[in-house]
Amino acid sequence: MVFSVLFQELRSLCKLLKIPINEDQLQAEQSESPFLLLDLPGDEEARLLVQRSVLMKSCYECLVHAREMTHLREHIQRLPADLIATYSTSGSSFRLRIHAYGRKLSSQDVRNRIELLKVFPLDSRVDLQNPTHSFHLLEDYGLEDLAEPALQPAQLFFGRWLADSNKDAAHKLRLDERYFIGTTSMDPLLALVMANQALVSPGSLVYDPFVGTGSLIIAAAYFGGYTFGADIDKILLHGRGRSTRAKKTWRKSDESVLANFRQYGLEKQYVDVLVADATSRFLRDDVQFDAIIADPPYGVREPIARVGKEKFNPSCDDTQAVSSGMPAGADFQLGRCVLNDLIITLVSFAAKHLRTGGRLVYWLPVLQDEYNDSAVPRHACFDVISNSEQCLSGSTSRRLITMEKVKDWDPNYQVTFAKEIYTETFRERYFTSTKDKDRPKHLRFKNKISRKVRPTEPKELQPVTGLPARQ
Ligand SMILES: C[S@@+](CC[C@H](N)C(=O)[O-])C[C@H]1O[C@@H](n2cnc3c(N)ncnc32)[C@H](O)[C@@H]1O
Repeated sequence: MVFSVLFQELRSLCKLLKIPINEDQLQAEQSESPFLLLDLPGDEEARLLVQRSVLMKSCYECLVHAREMTHLREHIQRLPADLIATYSTSGSSFRLRIHAYGRKLSSQDVRNRIELLKVFPLDSRVDLQNPTHSFHLLEDYGLEDLAEPALQPAQLFFGRWLADSNKDAAHKLRLDERYFIGTTSMDPLLALVMANQALVSPGSLVYDPFVGTGSLIIAAAYFGGYTFGADIDKILLHGRGRSTRAKKTWRKSDESVLANFRQYGLEKQYVDVLVADATSRFLRDDVQFDAIIADPPYGVREPIARVGKEKFNPSCDDTQAVSSGMPAGADFQLGRCVLNDLIITLVSFAAKHLRTGGRLVYWLPVLQDEYNDSAVPRHACFDVISNSEQCLSGSTSRRLITMEKVKDWDPNYQVTFAKEIYTETFRERYFTSTKDKDRPKHLRFKNKISRKVRPTEPKELQPVTGLPARQ
């Protein structure tokens, strides 16, 4: 997934920052190399791009690209004098750094390389702490997880460091230190990637209809979005019920999505979260969002639910919501709802409530054997911008889908979708189709238990955590 998402993030950020990109060059570079050579308009554009990225690492102005050290040194010696002059203005300083990707270098290796790089014809002062320019030798030994790293690098780069990426953002938002989390809280890196795919920028209005503990809107808020969410699970949104943290039994009274925003100093970006059913119509028709980001329930760790008793039969036109309205405490009942109902509702909702040019970014859980492109919902209002896979188990995956609204909404437009792929709930398919040996241990255990207790019974809808399901 990483490589395809990395290229998608790059394209999205170029669009967001209005930086022209050479698509032919990008296509040619789409190999599984950790390095990417790209023509960009200038240093400032390159810095902006990498500083917003959460998947890239750093960017450099490439001065020399070679296959062997001898060639690299020859090219360094022949660098144009006027270029060298720009780096050695009076009072400037520099340092040299060595990085190897896919191999560990000893300190002796590093010293040898620095010795070899003395051919770099720069006569300004060396400053290891705070130099004006930092020049780096990058050695590419292939992908890091190779069993036996190559002895010789496949390629070498010598360049001037421009900026590091926003990679640390994922660490700042890490779940182990987040105040309020749940069993399906989204990994912060993936949430940040989603916000990038959704082109969230300062002032964007962003909505998550399956907000849970708020991980996706926190990432959107981190990039300056004003964020709003809804979830059917009242107990969760009110921070009650059992805690998912080890050794804790009940949630504290102040656990909430807002508490998470406060933890990161993002409360100004918090609009609100509502207890609401995504399949119901609870927003005014004229509400428009800049982006909608969502991780719909797969029904594996959390229920797929809706308000009302009847089996939901969604129209591809969201105006026919059959719900009785907002869930109100114990008054609401849980109707049966399968994954495709929610996906159709999500895409229809986004077609109506996104501004033209806005993006819908969401996860679509799939069974690998049955997946094909027709499983991705289509709608006349949307272009599918990207679709990349993340494996969840030996036979299941989820796909990160990015759609951009390219046409104004029309009530006659329908969602087209290979519904037969989701005739049952994903949960049922997940537990029946996954080969036992491919399954993570905890799921193997779960399956054993459920087979013993109810060998053939079809599964009824699970109640929302902590809420009694009506008989
Ligand atoms: C995969 S979780 C989302 C987790 C969330 N992204 C987070 O980081 O905590 C899906 C959420 O959808 C909610 N949900 C299920 N059915 C719903 C419905 N019909 N309308 C709104 N929310 C629903 C569940 O309560 C659950 O919190």
